[in-house]
Amino acid sequence: MDSAVTARLKVCVELTPKPCGVVVFGASGDLAQRKLLPALFSLWARKLIPPSFFVLGCARTAMTTAEFREKVRAAIARRCTARPEECEAFVRRCAYLAGEYFDPAFHATLAKTLAESGAEFGTGGNAVFYLAVPPSLYGALVGRLSAAGLLRQGENGESWRRVVIEKPFGRDLASAAALGREIGRVLAEDQIYRIDHYLGKETVQNVLMLRFANAVFEPLWNRRYVDHVQITVAESIGVEHRAGYFEETGLLRDMFQNHLFMMLSLTAMEPPASFAADNVRNEIVKVLRAVRPFPAEDIRNWIVRGQYAAGEAEGKAAPAYRAEKNVAPDSRIETYVAAKLGIDNWRWKGVPFYLRAGKRLPRRMSEIAIAFKSVPHSIFIPLLPEDLSPNVLVLNVQPEEGVALTIQAKQPGAKLCMGDLTMKFNYRDVFGGEPPEAYERLLLDCMLGDQTLFLREDTIEVAWSLLAPVLDAWSRADEERAGPLYPYRAGTWGPEEADALPGRDGREWRAP
Ligand SMILES: NC(=O)c1ccc[n+]([C@@H]2O[C@H](COP(=O)([O-])OP(=O)(O)OC[C@H]3O[C@@H](n4cnc5c(N)ncnc54)[C@H](OP(=O)(O)O)[C@@H]3O)[C@@H](O)[C@H]2O)c1
Repeated sequence: MDSAVTARLKVCVELTPKPCGVVVFGASGDLAQRKLLPALFSLWARKLIPPSFFVLGCARTAMTTAEFREKVRAAIARRCTARPEECEAFVRRCAYLAGEYFDPAFHATLAKTLAESGAEFGTGGNAVFYLAVPPSLYGALVGRLSAAGLLRQGENGESWRRVVIEKPFGRDLASAAALGREIGRVLAEDQIYRIDHYLGKETVQNVLMLRFANAVFEPLWNRRYVDHVQITVAESIGVEHRAGYFEETGLLRDMFQNHLFMMLSLTAMEPPASFAADNVRNEIVKVLRAVRPFPAEDIRNWIVRGQYAAGEAEGKAAPAYRAEKNVAPDSRIETYVAAKLGIDNWRWKGVPFYLRAGKRLPRRMSEIAIAFKSVPHSIFIPLLPEDLSPNVLVLNVQPEEGVALTIQAKQPGAKLCMGDLTMKFNYRDVFGGEPPEAYERLLLDCMLGDQTLFLREDTIEVAWSLLAPVLDAWSRADEERAGPLYPYRAGTWGPEEADALPGRDGREWRAP
């Protein structure tokens, strides 16, 4: 028999949303062009959304609908292969409205256009407003939409209005809470869809399937059998064209507060009562509340930051962060963060969670690795328990989504010939083709009204409160408490000082 992973589809719950229109604010921007428009097209082409559907792009840039449609065609062509007739059928449903978001006349025209498009395409008043604009506009724009009556929903759920907002959700606890209050004044929580696109990735969702749809993993998923957990989000690129944003944000705010904490939550949470949105989201926030706060007086021994110096990327010389365009020559913004976290509950007490993320690391990869404990005793004398590598279960999130389990196995040959064997599947090989883009899944869920994979206000605030002592110590440049900003060579796995986090516990970072 060939050694291969086979998949037999048993259950596939596919739901189709009600007809609706999607209004994309910031339609001229990077996110809309690179991700949102191709994702909407893909949902359309795969018939996952009903034919009664339209897209209305809005932005300040002067552009006619014909010019916008040309951009939509180009955006689709860059991201996916499309049959011309499919592409044209989609493009005919796209229109564009230019205007200033703070001009009441714009909202009056928007209301009229929405009503006309709704009647033309039969969307029954259902609409998603996607705010792909700078975060500083979220509160005010939602306020204007509300004042124009555009967020009003039909009686008894006859029609709905939903708003999608993108990270960052504030830049600290106070600003996140203020944003929450501002949008909460005009929107009910079930109308707000806060996106963390990592939650739309297949492997990230598969954490829940793996844990709660199989009997073999969950009994081992605790302090008795798990030695430690490592979560890595590595990028090989530098700051690229996002220097302006990154100089204001830094890696801790950009990656930890959202992607890494969400991966941690799904890995560590308790089984929810069901896969219903509030049950899952209750467990996510519960486990984050159990994360031990960073000790304010000793931040440096729990979290380490770095900034890339000149080095190499993909075989070519790469500049230092401070030499990148639009970066201050004396910038103290971190491009790498590693942290050790503890979860104070019955399941995880004493199990360290090591998290790291950075730019200009040797390659792009994200994974969650569950490292199990060693066997308690070796019967394979003269091999000692520590000669037998502990099992590791790795959930690969990108670039190749899949799962790998490393076990010890006898190798052919001498009586005692043992080594690591990795059982591995990746989605592309098993299911054929690439898994759907995270944005497709999330946009579809939003249209279906399923908030399971979207962040709730309380989760965001707990995540920020965990980072509050770190942000405070770093903002004071208090190296005694916070530790220095360590340089690391571009193209390496970050500053050596980060090795001390697992090193002090007698462990080391995985070598991916
Ligand atoms: N790009 C990504 O991969 C990514 C990933 C995660 C989260 N996000 C978040 O998604 C949102 C959009 O990201 P993006 O990269 O598409 O941003 P972007 O390209 O910088 O901006 C999007 C659009 O917003 C409009 N805009 C810019 N400044 C404005 C202002 N002061 N007033 C009104 N409109 C303004 C611009 O359109 P006009 O000038 O034509 O109005 C621009 O095309 C941001 O909140 C970002 O943080 C983006």
